[in-house]
Amino acid sequence: MAEIPDTMRAVRFSEWGDRSVLHVEQVPVPPVEAGRVLVRVRAAGINPGETAIRQGLFDGEDPSKLPSGQGTDFAGIVVAVGAGVDGVDEGEEVLGWSWERSSQAEYVSVPAGQVVQKPHLLSWEVAGGLDVIATTAAAAVRAVDPRPGETVVVSGAAGGVGGFVTQLLTNEGIDVIAIASEANHDWLRSKGARPVSYGDGLQERIEELATNGVDALIDTYGPEYVHLGVALGVPVDRIETIIAFEVAAELGAKASGSADTADPEILGALALQVADGAIEVPIAGTYPLDRVQDAYAELEQRHTRGKIVLVP
Ligand SMILES: NC(=O)c1ccc[n+]([C@@H]2O[C@H](COP(=O)([O-])OP(=O)(O)OC[C@H]3O[C@@H](n4cnc5c(N)ncnc54)[C@H](OP(=O)(O)O)[C@@H]3O)[C@@H](O)[C@H]2O)c1
Repeated sequence: MAEIPDTMRAVRFSEWGDRSVLHVEQVPVPPVEAGRVLVRVRAAGINPGETAIRQGLFDGEDPSKLPSGQGTDFAGIVVAVGAGVDGVDEGEEVLGWSWERSSQAEYVSVPAGQVVQKPHLLSWEVAGGLDVIATTAAAAVRAVDPRPGETVVVSGAAGGVGGFVTQLLTNEGIDVIAIASEANHDWLRSKGARPVSYGDGLQERIEELATNGVDALIDTYGPEYVHLGVALGVPVDRIETIIAFEVAAELGAKASGSADTADPEILGALALQVADGAIEVPIAGTYPLDRVQDAYAELEQRHTRGKIVLVP
């Protein structure tokens, strides 16, 4: 059995607020409980949803939720396996997810069903930032049920989730009109998409490109793109947003997300597609735990291509 220390460094926050409330603390390493695995984390992705959680937007600033750890995504090496766990071994390289907001730490404990084997060709950084974007992208694509030859508009098309969505679609022969800033256009073209800049006149620019109309729209940025889908004549049940929940409920659009595809088989299959090179996840930046505030400062500019990852 690997030597496991009593304490570890972990990202924590004790009050709701902006990224300045984040700090690294020495805390007990979680015990090895039945049905769970303990993983030495090699990389842990960061996601915009964590900013919203930390600001209390999901929990209504409920004091009972504090102090809190942070982070869903991780990849690492299994260092201990609890009683009753089958199919995961000590020493195995895995990636997975934590519902307990605890992956941004040197060690994370999760139910054994929340890890999958890391394909050898996947780097620690890509594996550690994969779960949320990959499963969310899969949920979003499934929600609009696209067929080869159809035209799908994607907003935030080069972001973490958007970039994954774009490639899932183009790999299936779907025509993607990819909304992104100019800096991302060449990258999107290299993935087989047709990029278009956001800003004034966007609807007209899309209509010029979509000579046979737009069949579906996947939004990864905000409510204006759900409205854009309606203006483009897309049926509401083929408009999906992963973020504009109120507008989706109001208009009857879809709002699927990572919770709908939280399944080790789905994550394992998506990880293989990335390892095979069918889908690229660019690493926009890596930061040590101590620089967690800087990592979120970069993410919160909302212009990341691919993923920012913490390396504990
Ligand atoms: N429901 C769920 O399960 C779920 C899961 C994951 C994420 N989310 C949410 O989905 C959103 C995206 O997450 P992410 O990880 O993909 O974020 P991200 O990696 O930070 O991507 C942000 C993207 O937004 C684009 N962007 C910036 N300004 C824009 C504008 N005015 N119009 C259109 N696009 C613009 C950027 O593109 P340029 O760089 O080209 O400007 C960038 O690609 C977040 O709000 C997150 O909270 C939801």
